[in-house]
Amino acid sequence: MHRLTTIILAAGYGKRMNSKLPKVLHKVSGLPMIQHVVDLSKAIKSDQIVCVVGHGRELVEASLADQSLAFALQEQQLGTGHAVLSAEQFIDSGDVLVLFGDAPLLSEETLRNFIAYHKAKKNTASLISTEFDDPTGYGRIVRLDSGAFSKIVEHKDATNQERLIKEVNSGIGLFDASALKEALKTLRNDNTQGEYYLTDVFEGIKNSGCSVGAYLIDTPYEVMGVNDRVALAEAEKYHQEMIKKRMMLSGVTLVNPESIYIEKEVVVGIDTVIYQGSRLMGQTQIGEDCTIGPYAEISDSKIQSQVRVNHSTVQSSEIDSFSTVGPYAYLRPKSIVGKHVKIGDFVEVKNTIIADGVKISHLTYVGDGKIGENVNLGCGVVFVNYDGTKKHLTEIESGAFIGCNTNLIAPVKVGKNAYVAAGSTITEDVPENALAIARERQVNKTEWSNKYQKNK
Ligand code: UD1
Ligand code: MG
Repeated sequence: MHRLTTIILAAGYGKRMNSKLPKVLHKVSGLPMIQHVVDLSKAIKSDQIVCVVGHGRELVEASLADQSLAFALQEQQLGTGHAVLSAEQFIDSGDVLVLFGDAPLLSEETLRNFIAYHKAKKNTASLISTEFDDPTGYGRIVRLDSGAFSKIVEHKDATNQERLIKEVNSGIGLFDASALKEALKTLRNDNTQGEYYLTDVFEGIKNSGCSVGAYLIDTPYEVMGVNDRVALAEAEKYHQEMIKKRMMLSGVTLVNPESIYIEKEVVVGIDTVIYQGSRLMGQTQIGEDCTIGPYAEISDSKIQSQVRVNHSTVQSSEIDSFSTVGPYAYLRPKSIVGKHVKIGDFVEVKNTIIADGVKISHLTYVGDGKIGENVNLGCGVVFVNYDGTKKHLTEIESGAFIGCNTNLIAPVKVGKNAYVAAGSTITEDVPENALAIARERQVNKTEWSNKYQKNK
């Protein structure tokens, strides 16, 4: 027995998207639309969540794998009512909430208020409605003179008079389970689209003498249905606005926020300033008092406080406090950067642990390494980590100084406080405190130029 069953409809073709991808897998703020709806269903503590799949079901199910969801198959897409009927085996007792996979903007707050409204009114069925300046395409809410709910007419079935109605159906409905089951049985498809409409369930329940209500919200964008790519872009805009507004109110400064992109799960500490053109993605966490951007692209990374990342890309990496990255640095996955580290321009780092106080100021490739405290890598150092078959480790112990334009042929180790002369190609380990020079000695041919010029 379930107190609250949430059914998410996601079987439709999404014809108007003109896409090979099922509609509900198109992304808003970096996540498939349906994932936002699933996350919301979890947030309100649904006792079971059922996704109705059909068109592109393998792809939809794969995208939602391992999330404790049930799937119901709607073989043929015969309408939203038919879709709910396809999940009949999951409807037992309690309440049934129906959400649409193509409506990713609904907030938890609005949904909770709606559920509270349904309970307070002791309704048998409730829906969320809103008013659109341009309601084209949506089902219209027809009310009696008294203002009480009468029925929903789909845009395609509506008379010219009904099309003037601005109040529309969001598609979000909450039902008593047994009343829903009964009403689904009576659905007919004698409409312009030849479909079994979920919207007709409300009229059916009302006609059986039970109370039905429309909960009118004044934030229409929250229930917009994404049916084409113009709406997708609009949904993205609203979704980003919601994320960024929440972040700003929590104490983060966004300079020129329209140009900044932030995904839902990103967390940023107070007094951090994010400059224009920055993109923060995935499971990224950023501490307090950081300066991010302009034009920083950070994904799935953990950054402590007082860090500066300027015009750089950071992927699946960690940066400890007081360090600076960029401009124009590229931290690839598994770069673990300590405190007070400087990673300057045109430095690429990959799969390397960098201890506190290290300086890698310019034009350097650091791959598959381990670098001790206070090491200095000069301009143009290259960790030659790849022999064509395998990757090898370069280890540099604390206090070592690597001169400019050095190739470190891995596997190789430079000992504590050792020096490597500029221009060296290091193929053997360098002992602690030593100086390694691995280059041809210079030869100066006196007066060579004079002779050359004369002979020319
Ligand atoms: C629907 C509503 C309309 C409402 C609008 C809000 C109906 C009949 N119409 O219209 O009143 O104003 O949403 O956005 O309910 N789906 C299935 N199986 C089907 C058909 C659809 O799973 O057989 C799914 C779709 O994948 C989609 C959702 O149901 O996620 C809504 O379907 P869609 O075709 O977009 O309905 P609308 O025409 O937008
Ligand atoms: Mg729709």
